[in-house]
Amino acid sequence: MKRHKGMTWLALFFAFALVLAACSSGETGGEEGGGTEESNGQETEGSESTESSGSVEIFSWWTGAGEEAGLLALIDLFQEQHPEIEVVNAAVAGGAGTNAKAVLASRMQADDPPGTFQVHGGSELNDGWVAADKMEPLNDLFEAEGWMDKFPQDLIDLVSKDGNIYSVPVNIHRGNVIFYNTKVFEENGLEPPTTFDEFFAVAEELKKAGVTPLSLGDKEPWTATQILENVALGVLGPDKYNQLWSGELKFDSPEFREAVDIFNKMLTYINEDHAARNWQDAAQLVADGEAGMNIMGDWAKGYFTTDLELTANEDFGWIETPETDGEFMVITDTFGLPKNVENPDAVKQFLSFLGSVEAQDTFNPLKGSIPARIDADPSKYDEYGQETMEDFKDSVLTPSLAHGSAAPEGFLTQANQAVNVFVTQGDVDQLIQSLEDAASAHNMR
Ligand code: BGC
Repeated sequence: MKRHKGMTWLALFFAFALVLAACSSGETGGEEGGGTEESNGQETEGSESTESSGSVEIFSWWTGAGEEAGLLALIDLFQEQHPEIEVVNAAVAGGAGTNAKAVLASRMQADDPPGTFQVHGGSELNDGWVAADKMEPLNDLFEAEGWMDKFPQDLIDLVSKDGNIYSVPVNIHRGNVIFYNTKVFEENGLEPPTTFDEFFAVAEELKKAGVTPLSLGDKEPWTATQILENVALGVLGPDKYNQLWSGELKFDSPEFREAVDIFNKMLTYINEDHAARNWQDAAQLVADGEAGMNIMGDWAKGYFTTDLELTANEDFGWIETPETDGEFMVITDTFGLPKNVENPDAVKQFLSFLGSVEAQDTFNPLKGSIPARIDADPSKYDEYGQETMEDFKDSVLTPSLAHGSAAPEGFLTQANQAVNVFVTQGDVDQLIQSLEDAASAHNMR
């Protein structure tokens, strides 16, 4: 009963958020202006050979703390190299694209695509925009730029469908990280936990010391989904984790049930005001020493170092989420060329730039991510970045559900709603049933 009330309320909330987001998009500059008309489908021959004037509208959700600095640095550098191209920064606020994805969907629907937009490699790109026939293939661009051996094959696969490449990865974020406050850990004689048992032992100690063990900000529900997916990876291991999305393993399996039980127990250690906080506010609790640990993607590292000016391994430490050592929850932000944009050549210039070593090494140290290219310069990255670059090479990669790579967007929306209800109600059966229903509804079974 409660569930239906919750879901109705949530549905209304999301509908409202969508309307709000759509309004705010109007303000953030959905207008492309002053560009010259370029012919569609013309081949790009690299950033030096083809100069295109016009404008590029860059659509993302990188606004505000921990998100914006990297994008602005990228835009500045692009403008230096291409003063003839106007850049329109059409970012729509909201972590993990909470609002941006809805705004994008209505624009794509109305045949008003941005010049280029942030999209995660994996299902979000391939089962979403590519399957809907909304994207141009970029094989020629990859060939012309000599990129085929500059990006890891696994990453190229994440942005490809049926032999065609559809977007340019600008970064790689890691999703299975615990960030912890080093001072709080030291003062309490604690070691970062590697297993679930250790996690709960550390959480108990932190609680005794009057520190919130685990900070959560699930004002936007994806943050809780991200914890659940990491617990699922730890319990199931990569193969079975992947089977959740391919349909070979049901949510109603003893293994996944065990993951939900562990997730449920973790939720007994979170801050009371979790529903009022966003991801930055939750990370801030760790930065301030009010909480011991935060489970987050490493955009939190960007927030710590770029915005709060903390130092990796001094002010904060990190470790993989329990029992995921050797596994890497991969989240790649990519940009493609939508069909029917006003200035395709200017967009291609931007994409050529985005895939360059210089652009990647400008953006990623600020953003907290590692470069998508294999030939980037490790000396540009701090200890966290260098270690993560090494880990990436040696790890098993798994796609993130919370960030759109593992399963279709419609499933993710329903999963976020179900997890959000679960955080307050703690009904294991109900969560499992909701996930299973959503999987059937989205042809994952
Ligand atoms: C994106 C990151 C972003 C994070 C928080 C993720 O989905 O991939 O680039 O920092 O959301 O907004």
